[in-house]
Amino acid sequence: METNRGLGRGINFGNALDALDGGPELPLAERWFDEVAAAGFDTIRLPVRWSAHAGSRPPYAIDPAFFRRVDAGVHAALDRGLRVVVDVHHYAELCAAPDEHLPRFLALWRQIAARYAGHSGRLCFELLNEPRDRLTASRWNAVLAAALAAVRDADPGRTVIVGPAGMNSPGALRALAVPEEGNLIATVHYYAPFEFTHQGAGWVEGAHRWLGHTWGGAADEAAVRDDLAEVAAWGRERGLPVFIGEFGAFSAADMASRARWTAFVRAEAERLGLSWAYWEFGTDFGAYDPVCAKWREPLRQALLGEPALAAGSDFRR
Ligand code: GLC
Repeated sequence: METNRGLGRGINFGNALDALDGGPELPLAERWFDEVAAAGFDTIRLPVRWSAHAGSRPPYAIDPAFFRRVDAGVHAALDRGLRVVVDVHHYAELCAAPDEHLPRFLALWRQIAARYAGHSGRLCFELLNEPRDRLTASRWNAVLAAALAAVRDADPGRTVIVGPAGMNSPGALRALAVPEEGNLIATVHYYAPFEFTHQGAGWVEGAHRWLGHTWGGAADEAAVRDDLAEVAAWGRERGLPVFIGEFGAFSAADMASRARWTAFVRAEAERLGLSWAYWEFGTDFGAYDPVCAKWREPLRQALLGEPALAAGSDFRR
């Protein structure tokens, strides 16, 4: 629970070490870490596409130059007193063919865990971003237990984050089997209503038809409140802290709605004792504009300004 409170308020450095070919890309500059720390965030979630930088046969060695890039990101965060979450992102091949890719997935985690064993407790691992496809709930429950064991072998004390199959959606939490042990945090991604948060997103089929979808008002707020209350209730039942590892609205939505939604989700999360990380820092959902080197003020305010609803919450230590 302490670590989850410590995860507190975070932001994703999405599309940096997880960039897809032809997609947006954030160069991982030292000054972005300064901006995040100075703004008052506690945590950086660092998505990493290890599977695109490792051998396809045993021992599935991670490319040393790529490993050094990840090291630089981890150290840049830790050196500034931030927490940092390193995940396995965009491993689509594992989701498509879990049996075939399981040995490689475990080998990746053995290498990552061995590399960072002995690092600060402010570094956390997240086993897999948005399991989906053939990685059904029951299959994922078995795979995650094996990955957790691989991490524990090399780095027993590390805090590990794990989310449900079904793309980490809150509705899939009830099918997540979390091993009975300490030092685990559950995670979900929150993008509801999807027609609002993903309007105009090029990678979502039909998303152009949702353009113009605004957000606000009592009914919209009640829906978010109910969703997050269920997430928090699940965490309480299981005795597990919960981290909303991604939430955000794509840049094609109107800024006033994005700011309202972001502020509301953040305030509700904090009221319920859920830590969070906004998706994302500097590309297509960007809270920060790297070209002008400035925060997008309505989003910065929504994330870090005085929360409208969190009065009395003991969210921060
Ligand atoms: C997931 C995807 C990422 C996408 C984000 C928002 O994290 O991995 O590529 O941008 O969700 O849809």
